[in-house]
Amino acid sequence: MIVCSCNVICHRKIEQAVERMFEADPNVVLTPGKVYKAVGHRPKCATCLFHIAKLMHAHRESLEKEAAIVQESREKPRRIARRTVQESILELEKF
Ligand code: FES
Repeated sequence: MIVCSCNVICHRKIEQAVERMFEADPNVVLTPGKVYKAVGHRPKCATCLFHIAKLMHAHRESLEKEAAIVQESREKPRRIARRTVQESILELEKF
């Protein structure tokens, strides 16, 4: 879907720019201006700025959720492993 008709920028290009910026710095402060710069354009009429900002924040939110799920999946096996070790120690103490 075309988001900016002046520069012919599609939503996927905006999402890819947000992904690159998020990967480079997960704490990046996103602004439509930075996203425009990342895709190599400058706003002309600026009619699309609100839509780009909305798209940018929505995509960042989904990236943060994905990152949280990945982080959680990495931590789960450790928690289980720790629990298993603790359970093993308790079992050994019974004898
Ligand atoms: S629609 Fe994006 S600058 Fe005009």
